[in-house]
Amino acid sequence: MTEAERRSALEAVAADVRICTRCRLHEGRTRAVPGEGHPSTEVVFVGEGPGANEDREGRPFVGRAGDLLVKLLATIGWRRDEVFITNVVKCRPPENRDPEPDEIAACLPYLQRQLEILDPALIVTLGRHSLGRFRPGARIGQTHGTSAPVDPASGARDALGYALYHPAAALRSTDVERQTFDDVAGIPGALLAARARRDEEGARIAAASAPSAPSAAAVAPSALAAAPSAALAPSVISAPRLAHAPKRSPEGVEHPERGVDAVAEGASAGSRSPASSANGAADIERAAASGSATDDRLDPRADETGQLFAF
Ligand code: URA
Ligand code: SF4
Repeated sequence: MTEAERRSALEAVAADVRICTRCRLHEGRTRAVPGEGHPSTEVVFVGEGPGANEDREGRPFVGRAGDLLVKLLATIGWRRDEVFITNVVKCRPPENRDPEPDEIAACLPYLQRQLEILDPALIVTLGRHSLGRFRPGARIGQTHGTSAPVDPASGARDALGYALYHPAAALRSTDVERQTFDDVAGIPGALLAARARRDEEGARIAAASAPSAPSAAAVAPSALAAAPSAALAPSVISAPRLAHAPKRSPEGVEHPERGVDAVAEGASAGSRSPASSANGAADIERAAASGSATDDRLDPRADETGQLFAF
């Protein structure tokens, strides 16, 4: 798909979302919030559902949690318009309650379509509800700051998922906030790992389709560098990359530019050290857990920001 095709396919999903009545959440919405971002990005951020500000504006993450998300992205040199940002449910649950399982199920086809179109290398899940879509059974307290392949049934055919606490949880607890800044530092490394997986897959496909069928080992490196693009999975090489991403020269050599290049020095800089992961983990778990939907309803800030229910 070309960028223009992706853009119009995403717009078609958004148009369906705006008039959707598949679940009861449509009754209370002001505006549905389909999501937004760069149609050729490699990275999709998935939150839980719109809050009050999002419901008013029809855009994801525009309140305090959104401000924090922008700050978090800035620490790795990324901007929100370089990624795609959306939610598990596209309409605001009343009183910022958790979305019900039947609401999530009704809305999932939209997220699936978005992911099929975007075909991201990396999905950053924001909070436990989003995590649950991509890494079923995973617990946020144990998985934040780590990546794992996502279920292709999610719509993302070949992506790594990277787990973060929800920014709203970080707004409530300085421990969670500190941990989240730490975890975000691991995102560029996760993107490199995700690309490497996809490049391996591309090389495998190229090797399999090579006419003389030499050994895969002999073909793989040159296939990556020189095979005609049609031989590789199209998105591996044809999708324009994020502005910060290493670009491919005509020879296929990667030139680190801003953002991801930091990882070359230390993919480990982003991953939690055993010490920091052990450190205060129980406290953070407690702090994150204390932000239950029940607490949110009692929290005066929830009405004001509309975002505190979700992580
Ligand atoms: N919280 C979410 O999960 N999504 C938004 O869009 C805003 C706040
Ligand atoms: Fe439709 Fe999703 Fe909104 Fe429910 S939450 S009405 S399924 S767009």
